[in-house]
Amino acid sequence: MNYYKIKNLEQYIKAYKKSVNDPEEFWGDIADKNFIWYQKWDKVLHNDMLNGDIKWFVNGKLNMTRNCLDRHLNKRGDKTAIIFEPNDPNEEAQHITYKELHKNVCKMANVLRDNGIKKGDRVCIYLPMIPELPIALLACARVGAIHSVVFAGFSANSLSSRIQDSDCKMLITSDGGYRGNKTIDLKGIADDALKSCPSIETVLVAKRIDSEIHMEEGRDKWLQPLMDDAAEDNVSEIMDAEDPLFILYTSGSTGKPKGMVHTTAGYMVFTAYTFTNVFNYKEDDIYWCTADIGWITGHSYIVYGPLLNGATTVLFEGIPSYPDFGRFWDVIDKHKVTQLYTAPTAIRALAKENLSYVESHDLSSLRVLGSVGEPINEEAWHWYNNNIGKQKCPVVDTWWQTENGGIMISPLPFITPTKPTYATLPLPGIQPVLMNSKRNEIENHHEEGSLCIKFPWPGMARTIWGNHERYMETYFSAFRGKYFSGDGALKDEVGYYRIIGRIDDVIIVSGHNLGTAPIENAINEHPAVAESAIVGYPHDIKGNGLYGYITLKETGEVRDRDNLRREINEHIANHIGPIAKLDKIQFVDALPKTRSGKIMRRILRKIAAGDFDSFGDISTLLNPESVDEIKNGRIA
Ligand code: PRX
Repeated sequence: MNYYKIKNLEQYIKAYKKSVNDPEEFWGDIADKNFIWYQKWDKVLHNDMLNGDIKWFVNGKLNMTRNCLDRHLNKRGDKTAIIFEPNDPNEEAQHITYKELHKNVCKMANVLRDNGIKKGDRVCIYLPMIPELPIALLACARVGAIHSVVFAGFSANSLSSRIQDSDCKMLITSDGGYRGNKTIDLKGIADDALKSCPSIETVLVAKRIDSEIHMEEGRDKWLQPLMDDAAEDNVSEIMDAEDPLFILYTSGSTGKPKGMVHTTAGYMVFTAYTFTNVFNYKEDDIYWCTADIGWITGHSYIVYGPLLNGATTVLFEGIPSYPDFGRFWDVIDKHKVTQLYTAPTAIRALAKENLSYVESHDLSSLRVLGSVGEPINEEAWHWYNNNIGKQKCPVVDTWWQTENGGIMISPLPFITPTKPTYATLPLPGIQPVLMNSKRNEIENHHEEGSLCIKFPWPGMARTIWGNHERYMETYFSAFRGKYFSGDGALKDEVGYYRIIGRIDDVIIVSGHNLGTAPIENAINEHPAVAESAIVGYPHDIKGNGLYGYITLKETGEVRDRDNLRREINEHIANHIGPIAKLDKIQFVDALPKTRSGKIMRRILRKIAAGDFDSFGDISTLLNPESVDEIKNGRIA
């Protein structure tokens, strides 16, 4: 059987069994028949989960871009690879063919080489959703440079700490970006960030908004003239299967963001395989993932997964609410989109608007609907299924993480059933397991536990950049020899997985992964603040909102509370990014603490959610009286 493309339930069952009983043959067969290699591997898998030492396709040699581009040129050279849909619907969409994309990637690869970028160098990319963004990723992959994309909504401080952490040599950015009716001064933010980034030698600047910007002599160069002059021929670098392809930062429950390292061959095989199966991909499809390439979803399912399959992928620069709440439906109608992959937070926001925004567009091209980033609640699932899919498009609720590289648990459209609020079944090659607090595997139905994966898969991140110890500690220490996801989950009576949510101090806000610790650290830097604790609470649109409990320093000075709230949020926006702003700020006299000084977040979470029952025994707290005060001052 051809394991690459699952066509029916019987094949899914067969493929799954094969992937468990003989994972090396399973993945080896897929890798062999569906990709091009300079040299085949000696061994499919080196598996040492105990030491977090995983290698796939050992000693295989390849280049990602030959698989994404070169090999399609004969058959699909004139096929559209990328449809660029600009922020402004009146600006013409661009259809970039595989030939054109290949040419531009080769040119940019030459620009990188001419500017001193070699295999293994780190290149930071801080760009809006414009064609230069996927081209920059692919150009890095072509020359063997490791890209580190930083989401263009992040602040100067977040950008500089990511550049510093991985010692990037080059930054690729733009003069600015559009976001609805606003522009964002990306170059200004980058200039700020670069004040503390001595490793950056060159900044390439794409032109998007035509704004007046500062160009630092000897460091900053406009990208377009370099592209115009660059040669079109480029020989792709020969990469080892385990050479890093990219670093992508994700929040942890403590400390600074973790630079997850994804390597070349395993990531390639896994994103291509999951893309074609989870989205029921067919040759003439127009596939649209609304994520930003600044997140893993965009890396895997706007750029690599689709291009590896020779698909047409939509690159959308705008936002769902501009020029009005019908924009998504307009884009689907305009380009005859067949698959829509978006986030529950977007679905909930759009579901609140008048249905006429949906009904005025023809959505009949749609075949599959996808959801990612956070649990999708039942109401949103049904709205999506009824109003967008007209009950004809399976809704695939895809569970996975930055660390995983690609989709892990999801229905397969038209093959396995869907069930609202359930991610359902693992993909072939994925062996999930639920663990209880005694570190035993849970056998019972409907019992919640820690979601772990007990066998390596090709797309898994191999390490945290510069900190393998933290990788081990975060993912492999809670349950020996197993990857721990940080999520809680349960299984129903037929074995479908339902993801409950994070069980660590990571909060998913509008599908963005935010650690409480970095936000608290940022708040605590405000001169008036003594201490803070951030918790998540249920929020209609965002899934979770951020609720901050803050104690102030006793300076005797009386400050206007609303001003202080604004200042604190501005401070967070500058330090982390606007996505981390608090929805509610309650100033309190004291935070409830245990006798060892640990903040009792469990109680704070309950109060934020308005759940005043069952605080448990609070008499053992250092300051039980603080609980009543906080309860009484709760912001509804
Ligand atoms: O809590 C889970 C949630 O998002 C987390 C991973 O976030 P990130 O690394 O930013 O990647 C998001 C996009 C892949 C997970 O630990 N999550 C993601 N997808 C789902 C989900 N929770 C429930 N259901 C999902 N489908």
